[in-house]
Amino acid sequence: MLLELQNLGKSFGEHEVLRDVNAGVERGDRIGIIGANGTGKTTLLRILCGESLPDAGDAAFGTGVTTGYLEQNARLDPSLDIYATMRLVFTPALDAMQEMDALQKQLAADPHNAELTEKIAHCTAVIDAMDAYNMDTQIKKVLNGMGFPADTWTKLAGVLSGGEQTRLRLARLLLERPDLLILDEPTNHLDLETMEWLENYLKAYRGAVLVVSHDRYFLDAVCTRIWELRGKSIKTYRGNYSAYLPQREAADERQQKLHDAAVEKAAKLQDYVDRNLVRASTTKMAQSRRKQLEKLEIVETPDHRGVGAELSL
Ligand SMILES: Nc1ncnc2c1ncn2[C@@H]1O[C@H](COP(=O)(O)OP(=O)(O)O)[C@@H](O)[C@H]1O
Ligand SMILES: [Mg+2]
Repeated sequence: MLLELQNLGKSFGEHEVLRDVNAGVERGDRIGIIGANGTGKTTLLRILCGESLPDAGDAAFGTGVTTGYLEQNARLDPSLDIYATMRLVFTPALDAMQEMDALQKQLAADPHNAELTEKIAHCTAVIDAMDAYNMDTQIKKVLNGMGFPADTWTKLAGVLSGGEQTRLRLARLLLERPDLLILDEPTNHLDLETMEWLENYLKAYRGAVLVVSHDRYFLDAVCTRIWELRGKSIKTYRGNYSAYLPQREAADERQQKLHDAAVEKAAKLQDYVDRNLVRASTTKMAQSRRKQLEKLEIVETPDHRGVGAELSL
């Protein structure tokens, strides 16, 4: 398990946004988070990436699990060009390469120094974990896919439009390859071609992906699970958006039936009470039914607000 949400809750002052959220993320999951505007999708993501703390419950990560979040306000260094911005991802590996050069020179002069050998092994591990000898291939692949052809690579980040900057931040995040990739409406600034490339990239992603999107085609192409945020909590469904829809409709129908049955029962009890409470012979029965009526809990009707309606159907 990469991540386990246990009874997670979050309020802003008096305004409770999330309550009793329970869900889990496994490696290979590609989870689409859906829900009407203002239901707390971004709030949830911000908690998961550590930018905000929950008031209740816990978001428990597996040991050593790395997360990456495409946040709306992350800044790029305006003085770096597009290629250098991407290359920054490999800073730890580049440092390790430099250190290794120095260590190898020392080792040549002192070949039996076990400490040096150990340090070199550590550097190698850092470089290999990032597949850094293929750094340029990786950078070029992602830049081309994300709509930055070679003739744009020397452009400074500072002169890019807002949309281009978002796209570059997304490209950089993909290159980082965190175990848990967290994306909040990533397709807003993408053209069709780039979106298709992103879909394929995410489908082959070896970590897990949590993505908020209103685009049902994107959700269908990418997701293996759907988390539906409704009524402050999450319901989880297997499959993509098309698989989720009939499941949700069936669940809504069941809930509606429970609601209707409870309303009907309440009406019958009320009717009996009204007719019999004043009649001496049946007063006791009427009182008992009135008690039943008081205890009867009416199941809420399913909340249809926004769900589906706001997706680009
Ligand atoms: N920092 C904050 N302070 C107060 N209220 C907030 C804050 N962030 C979000 N909210 C409120 O929490 C609710 C959920 O917001 P958000 O998570 O952004 O929804 P979504 O991403 O689903 O559209 C909204 O009513 C929003 O106004
Ligand atoms: Mg949001």
